[in-house]
Amino acid sequence: MLERQKKVQVPDLKVYKDQKRKITCLTAYDYLTACLLDESGVDLILVGDSLAHVFAGLSNTSELGMTEMIYHTQVVAGGVERALLVADMPFLSYQIEIAEAARNAGELIRAGAQAVKLEGGSEYIADLISKLTSIGIPVIGHLGYTPQSVNLLGRGRVQGRDDEMADRIFKQAALLESTGAAAIVIELVPADLARRITDHLSIPTIGIGSGGACDGQILVTDDVLGRTNNQFRFLKRFAELNQIARSAVKDYIQEVQSGSYPTDEHSF
Ligand code: KIV
Repeated sequence: MLERQKKVQVPDLKVYKDQKRKITCLTAYDYLTACLLDESGVDLILVGDSLAHVFAGLSNTSELGMTEMIYHTQVVAGGVERALLVADMPFLSYQIEIAEAARNAGELIRAGAQAVKLEGGSEYIADLISKLTSIGIPVIGHLGYTPQSVNLLGRGRVQGRDDEMADRIFKQAALLESTGAAAIVIELVPADLARRITDHLSIPTIGIGSGGACDGQILVTDDVLGRTNNQFRFLKRFAELNQIARSAVKDYIQEVQSGSYPTDEHSF
């Protein structure tokens, strides 16, 4: 009989950090991907707002709203038994008012998420994290390159190369920890800075494009599996699924056109 693995819960993230056990995280936007990641044993599945580009072909994450994030969280939740399920709060769902943000975060929890992720390190974000935590909603912060601010930051630019910015990100990380954040995603910062933050905090850091010292790593699943054509320096493609799928589809077309599929074996 297959041994049923224990469900990952938010407090486990800190336990993993204390045990120096790296936290593995990937994104999912649909049920089948969620099943695949969960069965493979990934610790954390993020319904990331990267679904705007990767799933929907939109140009910015800001084009997504709560309706889409709730729907994708529900379908992913259907495929997750073991992993910790986290949902991104979409652009404008939390930046305006704390009460509205709390209601929106609650909707994502109702849809099946165990925690929400939101971007930024301002005093407002710190207050929001305190509020959400106080009503029982765990929050994962997101610092460094924050894709919802693409228009301000430019696309995919490393943050914190200079001392002033590095200092600001370091302080933001400490602020988020002090307000109750359960973990912090650190995107596109120099490896050195990510290491300093990781060593300083008692909560885990989850890096993307921020070197190997973080307590965990996250990537977009479709990048990892070779379903996108993204060629980021920080990305390692662990498979070339698009090539395999393209060749399968071509075989199908060829066999249907030539009449070699279906055969009697496939008929009733
Ligand atoms: O939206 C997303 O997928 C993300 C990560 C990859 C960090 O925020």
